[in-house]
Amino acid sequence: MRIAVLGTGSAGRVLAARFAELGHEVTIGTRDAAATSARTEPDRMGNPAFPQWQAAHPQVALADFAVAAAGAELVVNATGGAESIPALTLAGADNLAGKVVMDIANPLDHSLGFPPSLLVKDTDSLGEQIQRAFPGVRVVKTLNTMNASLMADPGQLAEGGHTTFVAGNDGAAKQTVTALLESLGHRDVIDLGDITAARGTEMILPLWLRLMGTLGTPVFNIKVVR
Ligand SMILES: NC(=O)c1ccc[n+]([C@@H]2O[C@H](COP(=O)([O-])OP(=O)(O)OC[C@H]3O[C@@H](n4cnc5c(N)ncnc54)[C@H](OP(=O)(O)O)[C@@H]3O)[C@@H](O)[C@H]2O)c1
Repeated sequence: MRIAVLGTGSAGRVLAARFAELGHEVTIGTRDAAATSARTEPDRMGNPAFPQWQAAHPQVALADFAVAAAGAELVVNATGGAESIPALTLAGADNLAGKVVMDIANPLDHSLGFPPSLLVKDTDSLGEQIQRAFPGVRVVKTLNTMNASLMADPGQLAEGGHTTFVAGNDGAAKQTVTALLESLGHRDVIDLGDITAARGTEMILPLWLRLMGTLGTPVFNIKVVR
């Protein structure tokens, strides 16, 4: 499948690399590909400058958001939550129309330091905001409840079988995403229903952030036991 991963941060990088390993044709989207290719400083999360990463992953292409989205069959939104709608606007509603957009972003407000708070919650969510802003897109909220390395390699946790949620209005889109998640190794995918379920998965973040501090690692996940 031709996949555009919009986002040059750690989540975009690990997912793009894993999709490429699995044989997909992957392009990472960025605001300005020429500028991103010329970066020499670490990104805002301290990851090595993008060209360093790309040199080790030559099978992953880099393009402006719009070019990446136009060429893709499936698009992943791996941009900062506060910037997701601007990024998808740059990608272009026409380039996204009819496509599955796997939204892994969290609406985190880092402006007051750590821990971040949520920019939207309770009665709305980023997933819903994206669906409303791009009605022609088939948004599936998923993977935002775990660390990036687990998104791409869930099997690294010895216990395995931890839970991955999907939410969205389009059943076929959720099936496509679930199959892709299973190909990554996600074994317990729970369909929470329509995109309003993104409220719950995004509101896990305060608990997730506290657990990270308590456990001293971001490599853990929630397991739903029936
Ligand atoms: N990292 C994790 O472990 C993890 C786990 C769960 C969920 N998530 C979610 O995944 C998303 C990506 O996280 P991340 O840590 O990989 O990267 P990030 O630093 O949150 O986001 C990087 C991306 O945001 C884009 N961006 C920044 N400002 C922008 C603006 N003003 N307009 C348009 N785009 C802009 C950047 O574009 P350029 O490429 O042009 O710089 C870059 O592609 C976030 O929503 C995060 O909450 C991450």
